[in-house]
Amino acid sequence: MNIKILFVEDDDRLREVLLEAAAIEDYDAQGVATAEAAVERLRDEPFDILVTDVALPGMSGLDLLRHCPRLRPGILSIVITAHGTVDTAVEAMKRGAADFITKPFALDGLLGTIRVAAERAARTRAVMQGGAGEGPAGNLIAAAPAMRKLLEEVRAVAPFRTTVLVTGETGTGKEMIARAVHQLSPRSEKALVALNCAAVPEQLLEDELFGHVKGAFTGAQSGREGRFEQADGGTLFLDEIGDMGLPLQSKLLRVLQEREFEKLGSSRTVKVDVRVVAATSADLQRRIDEGAFRPDLYYRLNVVNLRLPPLRERREDIRPLAEHLLAKFCASTGLPPKTISDDAWESLVSYRWPGNVRQLQNAVERAAALTGANTEIRLQDLPEEVREAAAAPAPPAPAPKAGTQPGGPGDRVDFDAVVTKVERDLLLQSLSRTGGNKMRAAQLLGMKRTTFVEKLKRLGIEWEKESAGAEGE
Ligand SMILES: Nc1ncnc2c1ncn2[C@@H]1O[C@H](COP(=O)(O)OP(=O)(O)OP(=O)(O)O)[C@@H](O)[C@H]1O
Ligand SMILES: [Mg+2]
Repeated sequence: MNIKILFVEDDDRLREVLLEAAAIEDYDAQGVATAEAAVERLRDEPFDILVTDVALPGMSGLDLLRHCPRLRPGILSIVITAHGTVDTAVEAMKRGAADFITKPFALDGLLGTIRVAAERAARTRAVMQGGAGEGPAGNLIAAAPAMRKLLEEVRAVAPFRTTVLVTGETGTGKEMIARAVHQLSPRSEKALVALNCAAVPEQLLEDELFGHVKGAFTGAQSGREGRFEQADGGTLFLDEIGDMGLPLQSKLLRVLQEREFEKLGSSRTVKVDVRVVAATSADLQRRIDEGAFRPDLYYRLNVVNLRLPPLRERREDIRPLAEHLLAKFCASTGLPPKTISDDAWESLVSYRWPGNVRQLQNAVERAAALTGANTEIRLQDLPEEVREAAAAPAPPAPAPKAGTQPGGPGDRVDFDAVVTKVERDLLLQSLSRTGGNKMRAAQLLGMKRTTFVEKLKRLGIEWEKESAGAEGE
C-alpha cells in the first residue's frame, strides 16, 4: 500500500532532504513551502499523513491543523516544533496532531515517527476501502458526521487491549465496527474469533468459550480448544452478549479480570492474552434492572462504549450505503450495474428503516434481483413499506436527550457514569495521540504522570505497546 505524505517546510534544502528520505522508504511524498499551498494540495489529493513545520511564512503550521479535519478527515498530522517549545507541541496535540518532533531532529527519529503514523494510516485505509484482502470489515461506509465521529473513536480505542462494548439497534453495523476495532489494532495480524452467544444453547456456550479436556463429560473422547484459546494474541468478538446466562457471566467476568480460566473437566489454569469486543442490541441497563445481567460485568465490558446510531439518525449514509450495497450485489451475482430512479431515491431516503442497514441491504438486493436485466431500479421495485414513505415522509426523529448516553436509552441521568465516560475519553484520546507515551499524555491533560497512571488503573485502561510506539517510561 502506497502511503501518501505531504511535507510543509519553507526551508528548501530541508524539504529536499525530507523528500529524498521518504522516497527511499517508498512513500509517495510531495513537498510545499507554505500552509496556503498545503491547503490546496490537501483539497485535491488523498494524503494519509501531513508533516508540517510550525513557523511558516503566512499561515502557521498550527493554523493549518485546524483546516485538516474539513479538508482530509482522518489525516494523521505530525508537527515539527523548535526545540524547547513544549507549549507549541501541546497546542499542536490539542488541535489534533497525532505526534510531534522537535528541531533539530535526526532523520532516523523523524522516519520512525512517520513509520508509526504510516502503519496506522495503512490500517485505517484497509478498513475504509476494503483493501486488497476485502475482509468483512472492508468498505465501511461512513459519510454522516455521527459515523465519522464513531470511526474516530474506533481509531482512538483500537490500540488498547481495553474491552469495548458495541451497542446499537439491530442491523446498524455492530459486527462491522467490531471487526474494524480488530483491524485497526496491533492485533490485526492475529485471529479475530467470533462467537454469537444467542446462537449457542447455554450448556454448550461454556464449552464453546473455554473448551474441555478429554473425559470432561460423557462422550468427550478428546480435548477441545475453546474460543478464548483460539483468540490468544488476537481479539474475541462476543456477539449478543446480552443473551448470556448469569452463571456464565460470572465466568466471563473472571477471565476479563484475571485473564485466566480452567477448561471443563480440568483444574489446570490456562492463561490467555485476548482482547474482548462485545456487542448487543439489547438494553443492558434494563437487563441489569431486571436482574438478568451482572452490573459488574457490564462495567467491565463497557470500559469503552461505541454506540452505533440508527440509520434514520444518519440519513446522509443512506445514499452511499445503497449505492455500495447495490454495486456489490450486482457484481457478485452477475447482474448489470444499476442506477436508482429519483422517486425511488426519495422513498429510500425518507423511510424510517427500523431494521437499519441490514433492512436497506435486503430492500436493495431484492429490487436488484426483481429488475433482472433492467438497469434502473424504480419506485415500484421497492418493498411496499418503503414505497409508502415517499407518500408520507416520516417525521424527523426526536433529538437524543443529552447526558443519558452512558446509561443507554432512558431518561435517567447517571452523573457518575457521565463523568467517568468523559474522563475515560480524555485519557484514551491523549494516550492515543501520544502513541502511548504516558508522560506526554499526562502533560497534555495538565496532570502529573502518577495521577494519570492511577486514573488509568482505576478505569481499567491498558495500553498495548505498538511495535514502534514509545512507552516513555
Ligand atoms: N457502515 C457500513 N458500511 C457498509 N456496510 C454496512 C455498514 N453497516 C452495516 N453494513 C452491512 O449491513 C449488514 C448488517 O451489518 P452488521 O451485521 O454489522 O450489523 P449488526 O448491527 O451486527 O446486526 P444485528 O443486530 O442483526 O446483529 C451487513 O451486511 C454489513 O455488511
Ligand atoms: Mg450482529
